[in-house]
Amino acid sequence: MADLKLTHVEKAYGEVKILKDINLDIKQGELIVFVGPSGCGKSTLLRMIAGLESITSGVLEIDGQRMNDVPPAERGIAMVFQSYALYPHMTVRDNMAFSLKIARKSPEEIDKAITRAAEILQLTPYLDRLPKALSGGQRQRVAIGRAIVRDPKVYLFDEPLSNLDAALRVATRIEIAQLKENMPESTMIYVTHDQVEAMTLASRIVVLTVGEGIGQVGTPLELYERPENEFVAQFIGSPAMNLLDGEIVQTGAETVVQIDGGGLARSTVPTESGDKGLKVRAGIRPEDFIPTDSDAIFSGEVEITEALGEVTQLYFRRNGSDHGLIAKLPGIHANLRRTTVSLTAAPEKVHLFHNGRSLLYR
Ligand SMILES: Nc1ncnc2c1ncn2[C@@H]1O[C@H](COP(=O)(O)OP(=O)(O)OP(=O)(O)O)[C@@H](O)[C@H]1O
Ligand SMILES: [Mg+2]
Repeated sequence: MADLKLTHVEKAYGEVKILKDINLDIKQGELIVFVGPSGCGKSTLLRMIAGLESITSGVLEIDGQRMNDVPPAERGIAMVFQSYALYPHMTVRDNMAFSLKIARKSPEEIDKAITRAAEILQLTPYLDRLPKALSGGQRQRVAIGRAIVRDPKVYLFDEPLSNLDAALRVATRIEIAQLKENMPESTMIYVTHDQVEAMTLASRIVVLTVGEGIGQVGTPLELYERPENEFVAQFIGSPAMNLLDGEIVQTGAETVVQIDGGGLARSTVPTESGDKGLKVRAGIRPEDFIPTDSDAIFSGEVEITEALGEVTQLYFRRNGSDHGLIAKLPGIHANLRRTTVSLTAAPEKVHLFHNGRSLLYR
């Protein structure tokens, strides 16, 4: 069980730099989630930590020891992949025992490790079954079991649930949360595209950008409530945060922004008198918009409605902008299509960005 440290880690394939200046301090017992657009290097970074991919520059340490040139088998790391490929002709028990047999562990040791892993994963009744007689979720648990029996210092998961159907994903996600609770000392790094997995499982989320290094590191709610930049603001949360161009017209503990082609947006992000006239973007999450009769930040005709049951998503077109605007209202409002709706938001829900950076972090 271990701390993990990345210092100025970079990865390039020839001339193409994939990962830039990655600095991370991961403490024992954390469950760190990597998110980021497809192709930003999440899998590459996991493989570099595992030793399956070389580190172009920078230092990887586990428990204070430099790992850059240590072979994968000696790093004390177990990786669980998206396509987990169990041996079809071997029972669950033999699938889990395989790596231990290769490592020449004694039968007693192997038996003990499998008993423990099966208990943690609730696989005890299935130990003598073949993979074909298991559900997808049970198979995924066997794949995790193969990692647990090795008692690694660090677990790496690369989108382990993305092959599962929606219901099974939810069930297995909860199982992974329980697994982490049963092994509070273990350090885990988990890659996912799924917002809900990231928000619910992570002790901290690392948002990776494409070629620009780390966007932000923080707890799920820090990233949701206090994004440092527009990239993170739009990456965390679904649908993405709306960004409205405007200009600061009043500064102080409460800042007032005149939205281009819209009304006034009030924000609790504080500004100084010198900020008057600053071009900013007001960031408002779809779920933070509130319909209003007066003092609208934005008014427009609803082009499309999507009734999801518990919420309705309203899509607006914006003059002079390639991006539409999305509002998410509780309940069912299918009758709003082709009507004009005016929206406001509470000042503490209005984020402010200048040149892509949040004014909260200056
Ligand atoms: N062996 C390689 N040679 C050259 N480029 C590579 C190689 N392996 C990966 N890449 C490139 O590195 C980038 C990062 O790939 P990686 O698989 O790490 O992305 P990812 O963030 O895991 O994406 P996804 O979310 O789609 O899984 C991609 O642009 C990919 O094309
Ligand atoms: Mg990947």
